[in-house]
Amino acid sequence: MKIPLSDRLQACCSFVHPGDRVADIGCDHGYLGIYLLKNGIASSVIAADIREGPLQSAVKNSEKFGVGDKMTFYLSDGVRNIPRAFDTLVCAGMGGDTMVSILSAAPWLKSEKHRLILQCQTKTALLRKYLSENGWCIQKEAIIRDGKFLYTVMEVIWQDSYYLTPGQCYFPPALSDNSEELLRGYYRYVVQGLENIVLNRKEQADPFAVQALEELKNLPLCKENTL
Ligand SMILES: C[S@@+](CC[C@H](N)C(=O)[O-])C[C@H]1O[C@@H](n2cnc3c(N)ncnc32)[C@H](O)[C@@H]1O
Repeated sequence: MKIPLSDRLQACCSFVHPGDRVADIGCDHGYLGIYLLKNGIASSVIAADIREGPLQSAVKNSEKFGVGDKMTFYLSDGVRNIPRAFDTLVCAGMGGDTMVSILSAAPWLKSEKHRLILQCQTKTALLRKYLSENGWCIQKEAIIRDGKFLYTVMEVIWQDSYYLTPGQCYFPPALSDNSEELLRGYYRYVVQGLENIVLNRKEQADPFAVQALEELKNLPLCKENTL
């Protein structure tokens, strides 16, 4: 029986280290944790969701795939009600603002003991800004094409001196390992988004976005004929 894992979640799994104890926050169907256990990648999985319905579907799916004994389930807003005994926190398929509120409520996560794998659907720049202002360093960020959409997955570690400029909050240095094709696509995607905010708005544009756009337009790497 094949686990129905999207390319997006598969990319999150590729950031998990062998033997990691994983906490999947916002687990919904639970497939990420099930895949990690079925493939011998994670040693244990905490699956948590804020809603009972998705959590119950994770419980059922874990039994269906025979990994129920290695997963524990918690009804929890973020990490509030889960045990702290894990190495890697995965948070996927949510908005950047939700992730910021989950991380802000858990300062105890700020330690070398924990690594974060974050895959955000919207407000990604806001999340990067929060990370950079709060001692979290984006070590690596992979761009994933899922159908016609582009997403990124970030590997984040606690490291007290890391700073992103406004432009880097939209197009961070951690993206540099991606193929040129993906980098070009992602660059176009963020610049178009910023142009919509900055150029097409009648009211005064957000100065952070204005500065970010200016920086990105001047990025030597991103001049028309190189990226
Ligand atoms: C769109 S689903 C994504 C599911 C899965 N992680 C994925 O990427 O396919 C988002 C899930 O996060 C849960 N969620 C939203 N806010 C949450 C929070 N503050 N704490 C825990 N779970 C949350 C929702 O109930 C939902 O099941």
